Amino acid sequence: MASASGDQATRLYHPNPELQKNAHVKSIEDYKKLYDQSINEPEVFWSKIAEQFYFKTPPTEGKFLEYNFNVNDGPVFVKWFQGATTNVCYNVLDRHVENGLGDRIAFYWEGNDPDDSSKVTYGQLLKGVCKFANVLKQHGVKKGDRVAIYMPMIPELVIAMLACARIGAMHSIVFGGFSSDSLSGRMLDAKSSILITADGVYRGTKLVNLKQISDEAVTLCKKQDFTVEKVFVVRHLGSAEASSNGDRSSPVAKRPCYSLTTDFHEGRDVWWHDVMEGASDKCEPVWLDAEDPLFMLYTSGSTGTPKGVVHSQMGYLLYAATTFKYSFDHHKDDIYWCTADIGWITGHTYVCYGPMANGATSVMFEGAPLYPDESRCWQIVDKYNITILYTAPTLIRTLMKYGEAPVKKYSRKSLRVLATVGEPINPEAWLFYYNVIGDGRCSISDTFWQTETGGHTLTPLPGATPMKPGSATFPFFGIAPAVVNEKGEELEGVCEGYLVFKQPWPGVMRTVYGDHERYESTYFRQFPGYYKTGDGCKRDEDGYYWITGRIDDMFNVSGHLLSTAEIESSLIEHSKIAEAAAVAYPHPTKGEACYAFVTLIEGAEFNDKLILELKKQVRSKIGPFAAPEVIHNAPGLPKTRSGKIMRRVLRKIAVNDHDLGDVSTMADSTVVDILFENRPKEL
Ligand code: WT7
Repeated sequence: MASASGDQATRLYHPNPELQKNAHVKSIEDYKKLYDQSINEPEVFWSKIAEQFYFKTPPTEGKFLEYNFNVNDGPVFVKWFQGATTNVCYNVLDRHVENGLGDRIAFYWEGNDPDDSSKVTYGQLLKGVCKFANVLKQHGVKKGDRVAIYMPMIPELVIAMLACARIGAMHSIVFGGFSSDSLSGRMLDAKSSILITADGVYRGTKLVNLKQISDEAVTLCKKQDFTVEKVFVVRHLGSAEASSNGDRSSPVAKRPCYSLTTDFHEGRDVWWHDVMEGASDKCEPVWLDAEDPLFMLYTSGSTGTPKGVVHSQMGYLLYAATTFKYSFDHHKDDIYWCTADIGWITGHTYVCYGPMANGATSVMFEGAPLYPDESRCWQIVDKYNITILYTAPTLIRTLMKYGEAPVKKYSRKSLRVLATVGEPINPEAWLFYYNVIGDGRCSISDTFWQTETGGHTLTPLPGATPMKPGSATFPFFGIAPAVVNEKGEELEGVCEGYLVFKQPWPGVMRTVYGDHERYESTYFRQFPGYYKTGDGCKRDEDGYYWITGRIDDMFNVSGHLLSTAEIESSLIEHSKIAEAAAVAYPHPTKGEACYAFVTLIEGAEFNDKLILELKKQVRSKIGPFAAPEVIHNAPGLPKTRSGKIMRRVLRKIAVNDHDLGDVSTMADSTVVDILFENRPKEL
């Protein structure tokens, strides 16, 4: 693994001229023109984009945007396109079918097993969605109801969510890796009396019995006096006969069959294929106000229970569609693959709504990226000739551990745009993505955004923006960023502080479900007049934005504000380090000190020499004050199922506190036991 030498990591990477030629935005000057219009004349900018979508009733004159971002001036609210009525499902399905695109493939479905695949067109999806929308209606689901969805990455998941959207019910998708506790907690908060699930799913070699977990969640709800009325169950792993009733021709017979270990509850549980069989494939959409809620999705808060982030109809759709088109430079012949699960916001916006609003053809992947081996991703890229790939830095770093060989085994020549999301991408990983995976030919879109923002907020545009490894570069259209200090004063020029947004964009969340006060206090109270991202940020001499990590991951060593991300990034530059996580830890004289966990590359040895080298590296890279006090050998790091390092847990390990709090989102808890066991001896 090559080290990110100063030159490589700091130079500017210009878009490939070949890519630039056909790009939607071809130069940084063109980007600036469009950007300025989006900020100075938002009505002109967004109204033009809105023209391609269908409104049953057009927006009311003069009611394009009303909002208040200042808590001191009364309740915070954001309203776009008031008076308009529309339907998001109609816009992502019927609109394309009516334009003659019914036979276009919406999803190539790639199963966990490399021999298991299928495909589904826009026309087929529309029929499936209408059928399931009718099923939901027959079971009493109506506008405004919250429907919980706990499913694997299969086309029925998209059908379920769009069926909700068609009738104005809010879907509340819970990632299929959450526990029964987390599922029931979310169902209780949202009062979801309908649950849609599947029998089970294989991820790699691991079987997840979704139905059993769903049953447990329903029982937990019951204990809180809440009755789940109906559980719809897709037979995904069951017998071939049963699934042949469904809309897609699924090679289910190839899947390892397993029989349900849980009972089927008569009257409550309903097989998906049974109810779909008799349902009509015509269903008039419910026409909804532009500001009616589309869905809710839970995201963890730094304190308390998860927050149900609520997104709107038209604003969210416009923003998902526009960011997808420009950040990835999507064209109609592209084959696009986002590796995220639909259970996260990345999957909502960039597996379902954004691509489908653009009539895109995507790959939907059910499996695990390292199964059956570490070249699976590149096998998939070549199989479908993928042109746009969207994934997370954590996966890139994991793949780096195996070196270049598994990547080079496949040609990857179709790739044009590579994108990342989820956390700051360290220059090492960026350069591996760019040089090794992309063969130095592709643009990299490092997209900074949040569950709350609905879509990308800072990102390069592939044909326009000169890239700097590790920087999310510039704001997307409609985003007005500012960097503020503790007092909420805007900083000018080169600076470091808190990243905030000054005005609403169409995709911003509208409220926290059932708790508008929490919306205001979390995002708007600390810096009145601004939306607070909760991230630290630097702006450099060229105006590029560099996310330094969550503010709650910031710490102060002897008066120096440090971010975990910058320490980690310098540790990872060491050739023996695959992954690093830094946390703050109380220190008698410095206030806080840095405690670093490091995962070594295969075959490397952890010893005193390495510890010294690592401390020296951070010292020379950032400054003596930043050198970690403790370096802890971590064969694995505690991560959420979406791959985020759980620094909260690491902080506990650093102080030898075994009271870890809620760890229901942790992917593999055995790594924690190992870390407690091998705490450095001097502590
Ligand atoms: C937090 C939001 C948005 C989809 C996935 C995560 C971090 C996200 C980047 C990036 C640096 C990033 C931020 C943000 N983050 N993308 N490109 N560079 N940091 O959604 O769970 O709501 O997390 O992820 O800290 O606040 P989320």
